[in-house]
Amino acid sequence: MTPETDPERARALARRFEQRAGCAPEGVWAAPGRANLIGEHTDYNAGFALPFGIEQRARVAVRRRPDPRLRLWSEQAGTIELSLSDLRGQRISGWAAYVAGAAWAAIEAGADATGFDLLLDSDVPMGAGLSSSAALECATLAALAELWNFPRSPLELARLAQRAENQVAGVPCGLMDQLAAMCARPAHVLWVDFEAVSFTPLELPLAEAGLELLVVDTRAPHQLADGAYAERRQACQQAARALGVEALRHADLESLGRAELSPEWRRRARHVISENARVLRAVEILREAGPAARLGRLGPLLSASHASLRDDFEVSVPHLDVAQAAAEAAGALGARLMGGGFGGSVLALVPRAARDAVAGAVLDAFGEHGWAAPALFSVRPAAGAERVL
Ligand code: GLA
Repeated sequence: MTPETDPERARALARRFEQRAGCAPEGVWAAPGRANLIGEHTDYNAGFALPFGIEQRARVAVRRRPDPRLRLWSEQAGTIELSLSDLRGQRISGWAAYVAGAAWAAIEAGADATGFDLLLDSDVPMGAGLSSSAALECATLAALAELWNFPRSPLELARLAQRAENQVAGVPCGLMDQLAAMCARPAHVLWVDFEAVSFTPLELPLAEAGLELLVVDTRAPHQLADGAYAERRQACQQAARALGVEALRHADLESLGRAELSPEWRRRARHVISENARVLRAVEILREAGPAARLGRLGPLLSASHASLRDDFEVSVPHLDVAQAAAEAAGALGARLMGGGFGGSVLALVPRAARDAVAGAVLDAFGEHGWAAPALFSVRPAAGAERVL
């Protein structure tokens, strides 16, 4: 967390907006990056996950314009000018694609669009697997839903944000990141059922349990991420078809054992089936009486998730494996790669007293490999998209 409080940050952003645009914004909206306790590559298989919003957020100050122009400024990444008519069909690259995509999805959903000025300030690290893009899409959609006067539920807005990412940014992601950024609750993870497209907030009393969730942003370059993600999705679909089910959510290890599948599809399906079971076990742990005392039991599930993502789903890379192993060896109760894989972050469940030892061990391990130091910070479940000024 930055020393600045959220309202101060929003007011400062509004002042900087005014300096650029010449008048005050109509409001400031924010949406969080997302972490995920467990449940990876399950969203597009109609399965389960336990994501949450984090305190790092994308904030947008916005004001409507009387013309169809879009002036988009980022504190971190430059300026783009567009027109509403550019949103259809034109490939927009970089951070502006997420704002443009959100506007496009809102227009497709029937919003009465006007041009707008928007200033972005985000402290969600990029490329860390913490969905800085979903944070921006969701902050923008929260703003436009109000300014363009098209009221929608947070879940509906999350689906529009996903459309933006799929269609305009061109990433074939599932719904997890956008759902978390829109619907997150402080101090809770969301138990999401991606078939019903519904969620139940479950309390995560980390502090009472003396635990922290430590993120290791490996800063490993993302390689082949988009192509490999699409390829994994396809393999899952084909495996489901071969197993005679609509989605891998409905397959089980027994029928997988009997089925004739290529070794690769078998491994992919085994990950999804076992990961769904781990999520449901984690839900039981969170729901059992006296959850604070029992939270440590989540640790082995996290580490099993990592092994499955590494060996069966094959989305890990050396930086992630080294961070995971070093964290565990130094006292983490469990750790796993988080998000799509091929780079990004490891999430470790760490007793508060072991935090420094774990952080030091990960830094040493990266040093021994001659790799640049990773970024290390704790995350806590925080609120979903909201108006902050
Ligand atoms: C990325 C995608 C999500 C999800 C995860 C893996 O973050 O955007 O939809 O599939 O990977 O769990």
